[in-house]
Amino acid sequence: MNLHRYEKIWLALAGAMLVFAIVYSGFQTLALSDGPPSGVGIIDPEKIEETAPFDNPGVFEVGDNEYEVIMILRAFSFEPNEINIPVGAKVDFFLTSGDVFHGFQVVGTNLNAMVMPGHIQETKHTFTKPGEYLVVCNEYCGVGHQVMDMKITVK
Ligand code: CUA
Repeated sequence: MNLHRYEKIWLALAGAMLVFAIVYSGFQTLALSDGPPSGVGIIDPEKIEETAPFDNPGVFEVGDNEYEVIMILRAFSFEPNEINIPVGAKVDFFLTSGDVFHGFQVVGTNLNAMVMPGHIQETKHTFTKPGEYLVVCNEYCGVGHQVMDMKITVK
């Protein structure tokens, strides 16, 4: 097979970009703990109220400016519906659904998770800018989907 010089250059460039993308996303996920939201467990969606930690949804301080948020999504609400977080806090969200598929998208950030009944999703974020953040459901979940939202206040 005879390849033109330009073809070889483009092949090498494409290969280098591919390797870079794989190595960099591995570095982000493993070294920076900044991977995509991932399932960290399963849960019986009919027994959420009796299953820790979802038997007590809310915001919990777990370390020096580190918080855990335990949240249940249902048609068409988030529980808790309003939370307060100090600026610069590292927040670890644990999310599950009590009925159908929902979304957890924090407008203005790259926080975005699909929340499924029977599964626990974990996603982390550090809120560096103070303000009010709107959280919306971005998975169509029924007739009230468009009113399903909540608020995170960072100050
Ligand atoms: Cu919940 Cu759309």
